[in-house]
Amino acid sequence: MPDRLPYIIEPMRLADVDQILVIERVAFPAPWSARAYRYEIVENEHSTMVVVRSAPHWARRLAQRLPPRLSVEPTPVLGYAGFWLLVDDAHISTIAVHPEWRRRGLGELLLLSLLEQGAKQGAQRATLEVRVSNYRAQGLYRKYGFEVVSRRRRYYSDNNEDAFIMVTPAFETHEFQANLRQCRDGLYARLKGAGMNMRWQHASGGLVRQNRTDGVKSGRRNPN
Ligand SMILES: CC(C)(COP(=O)(O)OP(=O)(O)OC[C@H]1O[C@@H](n2cnc3c(N)ncnc32)[C@H](O)[C@@H]1OP(=O)(O)O)[C@@H](O)C(=O)NCCC(=O)NCCS
Repeated sequence: MPDRLPYIIEPMRLADVDQILVIERVAFPAPWSARAYRYEIVENEHSTMVVVRSAPHWARRLAQRLPPRLSVEPTPVLGYAGFWLLVDDAHISTIAVHPEWRRRGLGELLLLSLLEQGAKQGAQRATLEVRVSNYRAQGLYRKYGFEVVSRRRRYYSDNNEDAFIMVTPAFETHEFQANLRQCRDGLYARLKGAGMNMRWQHASGGLVRQNRTDGVKSGRRNPN
């Protein structure tokens, strides 16, 4: 990731699980438990789990000057994602963004990070399942080159909904790489632009985003 983005991607830590569960419960009809997340972080050697946080410039500047043992308290988790490396497939296991932080490119930033880390770990392509009704997530996946290859009937046990199986082209193909480059450039430009219009404050209970032009605190939106 380049410097000067207003967000950072970091490995998920056990200390993040409580915040993750808050997002998980509004993001998914059948949420994973704390135990499931702990297993993914600590025990599952095929699993890579990441979180996205805001990266206020002051915190990064301060962190660079502090000795490593005096690190800055991490900012709140805004979203998270993971994949399992299954032979040469990066299988996306989860991805979610806090409802108040959606439509700002964070889903893309998370997915991009999974694709890049998957490729580094030797994956040749990425795969996933998605509810047929989840057009938002499908839009995100299509943007990054995923295509529907099959449909699994009654895959989700909570409501018997079908799943689409989506797969990327092979990572090494020109088609995949050219699209990834274009998406990455567009995303970084968008995130840097957004970062210049924000100032960040820590308030009790979390991070408050304020826009310099209107100073209005963002309101909570309905989850998906
Ligand atoms: C899916 C999810 C992670 C997207 O996160 P996000 O930060 O809002 O997404 P981004 O802002 O990065 O958007 C990336 C792309 O996703 C698609 N998308 C995201 N939200 C959308 C919406 N409300 N309507 C239509 N398309 C949408 C668009 O293609 C968008 O690209 P664009 O900005 O060029 O139009 C988020 O909606 C979420 O957490 N949903 C609940 C959990 C979930 O369904 N996870 C997927 C399980 S398979």
